[in-house]
Amino acid sequence: MKVTRYFPTLLALPVFCLQAQSDFSFGEAQQMLTTYCAACHKGKTALAKFDIERYQTLNSVLAEPRRWTTVLNRVRDSAMPPKGSPAPSLELKDKFSNWLDGTLRKSACADGISPGLAFTRRLNRSEYSSTVRDLLNLHVNAGHALPADGAGGEGFDNAVETLFLSPIHAEKYLEAAKTALGYAVKEPRSRKVFLNTAPGAGLTPEQAAEKVLAEFLPRAFRRPVPALEQQKFMDLFRVAQKRGDSYDESVLYAMQAAMISPHFLFRVESANNGREPARLNDFELAARLSYFLWGSMPDKTLSDLAAEGKLQDAAVLREQVARMLKDNKSTEFAESFVEQWLGTRELGRDIKPDKKLFPEYYDEEIASGMRYEPILFFQEILANNLSLLNLIDSKFSVLSNKLAKFYGFPNKDLRQQPKHYDLPENSRRGGIMTMSAVLAVSSLPNRTSPVLRGKWLLDAVLGTPAPPPPPNVPELQDNKAGAPPKTLRERLETHRQNPVCASCHNRIDPLGFGLENYDVLGRWRTEDSGKPIDSKGVLPDGSEFDGPDQLKALVLKKKELFLRNLTSKLLGYALGRGLTLEESCTVDQIIEKLEKTDYSAHTLVNEIVLSIPFRYKAGTVANLPVQYTETSNRD
Ligand code: HEC
Ligand code: HEC
Repeated sequence: MKVTRYFPTLLALPVFCLQAQSDFSFGEAQQMLTTYCAACHKGKTALAKFDIERYQTLNSVLAEPRRWTTVLNRVRDSAMPPKGSPAPSLELKDKFSNWLDGTLRKSACADGISPGLAFTRRLNRSEYSSTVRDLLNLHVNAGHALPADGAGGEGFDNAVETLFLSPIHAEKYLEAAKTALGYAVKEPRSRKVFLNTAPGAGLTPEQAAEKVLAEFLPRAFRRPVPALEQQKFMDLFRVAQKRGDSYDESVLYAMQAAMISPHFLFRVESANNGREPARLNDFELAARLSYFLWGSMPDKTLSDLAAEGKLQDAAVLREQVARMLKDNKSTEFAESFVEQWLGTRELGRDIKPDKKLFPEYYDEEIASGMRYEPILFFQEILANNLSLLNLIDSKFSVLSNKLAKFYGFPNKDLRQQPKHYDLPENSRRGGIMTMSAVLAVSSLPNRTSPVLRGKWLLDAVLGTPAPPPPPNVPELQDNKAGAPPKTLRERLETHRQNPVCASCHNRIDPLGFGLENYDVLGRWRTEDSGKPIDSKGVLPDGSEFDGPDQLKALVLKKKELFLRNLTSKLLGYALGRGLTLEESCTVDQIIEKLEKTDYSAHTLVNEIVLSIPFRYKAGTVANLPVQYTETSNRD
């Protein structure tokens, strides 16, 4: 296998994230910790075993990047010091955070950005289905009977952490392969692709099978298959022939074996046993690319480019990205990424609007229009290389006719299929935050919840998730019969008067108040419990807004947070795992490029595909990088 050596020039990559705040020193950081944290985090009795006395030198900080990443997040989120304790000024807090962030990354990126190890990873259920579809040119959902996959890494179900093979899987895979091949052999369209040679004029069954398998196996294994390996499958063909199976049956027997082989079920990357990072080989790169953007196997164009050794070329990669994003197969990527990122996959599954209160949701066309809006919107942005800031606010959406009507927009034409839709003036829509699917998954079945919507925004948009709620929090009181009814906002104000509750809810609730004008299904409303809706909010940093349009404008001002979040999520998705601290520097570099290209969607995808973590694998002898986005914060 051809593995290109790691070029020393990579070490000299400009690392933009290096600029630590020069107007702040370690001494000043220590002083801030002593003033605002020592009361609870000093000496043997330090809370959460975070003892600031253990860190007398900068190196002692750098030696525990995970812990200090937690410190950074807690301070940045205003979760520490807790509400009620003396807190640093906003300015000091920012200086400290920027200093710590810069310092941690500077240290992590000092030696250039190193990639993760090569991996061996099972195809997840939807990748499996799509791969069988493309391998056999067969439109059945071959993976429907397989067990569902968990989520790991950056929260996606293609994460290496969750994809191992259980015995129950093995049996189901055999079933699935048999069934799919059984259908495909009867389908002329499929046969043309995977079984296009029969014994006949001039060919013995043996020769015909040889020819068929020589085409099938490299497609199934996504790499060239050496003659010796191919012979093992020919042996199976011969066994079947001997016992009297027909030609078709015998070929299928060998193919079935290929389809339960780890080389098919797993994406196998060869280990890099050196010390230096090495490039993936061309076929491994083709597979990473196609599973990233199509959730399926490479097509002929990609495999041919890999075989010709052209795929490593940056210009070729960019061209392929543009081609792949235009292809319909990218809907699958958009669906998988967007639904997991925004949480909208749960709509209609774990999260169902109340049937009596919101019967409109139970119109199938409305429900599916809602579900597909964010997916098709994202795909439209990618396919046409639009600005990523459209995700925050936009002048268009992708709507079915029924959904447009549901939003109260004029009918433009009478088609059922969702399509690009230019929003009317003052539509109060645009961007993902005001899409009904999003507003519905961040609601309770019977009422809106500013808390859940605020939490959703912090998580999906700003990438600064709220800490989980403490146990035993009393539920919100329902409006009592007889007493004057209160709006949800009024009921929530009560708990924000308690400083313990306010430490979190001051961050969470105001964002959600900005969206109170949307009901559970995301329809515009002006009243709650007979009173006008108050959609004003103040964020912990003092910024104020009134209503969704101003809320979006505020988020646009914080677009670095959004872009960092989106880029981290997409890079994590592309790599199929959680990011390392060093990879957060890759994220910084990408953001820098985005700023220079008007936030072009292709820049984002291209830069991910061209990045070192995506194209290289670490040597097994090298030190392994530290996870940055892991939730566990114990060293
Ligand atoms: C009034 C007491 C108090 C003060 C002051 C305080 N903390 Fe905390 N801190 C806590 C408590 C209680 C916990 C454990 C509960 C939790 O994790 O929220 C904690 C947990 C933490 C953790 C999580 C440790 C881990 O690894 O899980 C970090 C980091 C932290 N604090 C940093 C700070 C910093 C930095 C400051 C000063 C800017 C600070 N804290 C000030 C009470 C305090
Ligand atoms: C550490 C952060 C934190 C603290 C402290 C906290 N909460 Fe929460 N709270 C949350 C989060 C996050 C949620 C969202 C719940 C979820 O994820 O399901 C929530 C949800 C709620 C809800 C449900 C909202 C709804 O629409 O039904 C109520 C009520 C609530 N909290 C009240 C309180 C009260 C009262 C206190 C103080 C005694 C408190 N919380 C303290 C984080 C916090």
